[in-house]
Amino acid sequence: MHWPFCTARCPYCDFNSHVRHDPVNQKEFARAYARELSHFARLTRGRTVQSIFFGGGTPSLMEAETVQTILEAIAGNWSMDPEVEISLEANPTSVEARRFRDYKSAGINRVSLGVQSLRDDALARLGRMHSVSEAKLAVGIAQSIFERTSFDLIYARPHQGPKEWEEELNEALGMAMGHLSLYQLTIEQGTSYFDLRAAGKLAMPDADLSADLYLMSQQMTAAAGMPAYEISNHARPGEESRHNLLYWRYGEYVGIGPGAHGRILQGDVRHAISNQKLPETWARQVMEKGSAIASDERLTWEEEGDEYLLMGLRLREGISPERFHQLCGRRLDERQVNELKNIGFVQILSNGNLRVTDKGWPVLDAVVADLAM
Ligand SMILES: C[S@@+](CC[C@H](N)C(=O)[O-])C[C@H]1O[C@@H](n2cnc3c(N)ncnc32)[C@H](O)[C@@H]1O
Ligand code: SF4
Repeated sequence: MHWPFCTARCPYCDFNSHVRHDPVNQKEFARAYARELSHFARLTRGRTVQSIFFGGGTPSLMEAETVQTILEAIAGNWSMDPEVEISLEANPTSVEARRFRDYKSAGINRVSLGVQSLRDDALARLGRMHSVSEAKLAVGIAQSIFERTSFDLIYARPHQGPKEWEEELNEALGMAMGHLSLYQLTIEQGTSYFDLRAAGKLAMPDADLSADLYLMSQQMTAAAGMPAYEISNHARPGEESRHNLLYWRYGEYVGIGPGAHGRILQGDVRHAISNQKLPETWARQVMEKGSAIASDERLTWEEEGDEYLLMGLRLREGISPERFHQLCGRRLDERQVNELKNIGFVQILSNGNLRVTDKGWPVLDAVVADLAM
């Protein structure tokens, strides 16, 4: 579920986010979400909902009533796993933290907070609307209301060295309950950070320093009992996000809302679907014809195999060579696998899965490229 609105645009962000100066008519949007849900329910009959994720944009700007309407529409359209994971991504301002209890009443059972940094100067440079103390308070409130919580930090930021990151990550590990996401800052085209870097005004860490910070993050989280289960996601065993795992295990998911992406099977063809990005266009089209699809691509077997590698090799559990074969009808190139094994970038696990090693993770893109078509 993509909620596309934000209070302000962060200078590093290239997600589908929109700032509106007039209040958003949430009732109208809720109706459009419900309408789009019934459209996709007709295409995915017989499936059981395992997880729901409200991402953004800033879903914590949604009124609890809007969340509830959407959850009721989901429950009315599909059967739900009794253990369904229902996460909501929240920005840690005090205004938003006040809504947490109502979100729980609406059905949310997991909250993920966009803390981004535990340093006020860094938060200011990232253009965030919250302070460190506000973020800590929001994490505490979330932890007292929800059994399962997570928060995100961005590292490899300008002006950040190993010592600074070590101290900050230690503090974060002291705060985290079961799950923590650590993202290396990426500079995306079309963002203000992209222009700043091009103008030489962003002191980004070089590749060696970024790799050191990455390794340090892996070691410190593992030592704290929250190892990486995916390249940027860390959890105590059993606390992994089921929703994240479903993406990386190449499951089926419906993307609802402006700019959302989905992967659904129709017969034995996997469709890659993406929605109109502009919220008002999306809502109008959904109300007119039930959906607002910008592209619907029938993936070839080769593309499915490549996507499975791209997603699955991010996971510590790796990929199943058998499933790869079932998806795309070819086997992994044994010579290529052996070469990668010999340089220590991949290993074969006792269950037959192939996984990227700690040494291979920093060069994951190259490993995927070697194994893909
Ligand atoms: C959908 S985004 C934002 C969710 C929420 N609106 C917020 O800002 O906290 C999810 C996460 O992606 C990460 N992220 C976004 N842009 C990034 C970038 N350019 N580099 C690294 N991480 C990024 C942030 O940690 C963020 O919390
Ligand atoms: S980082 Fe989050 S709050 Fe900032 S613009 Fe992107 S989605 Fe919105």
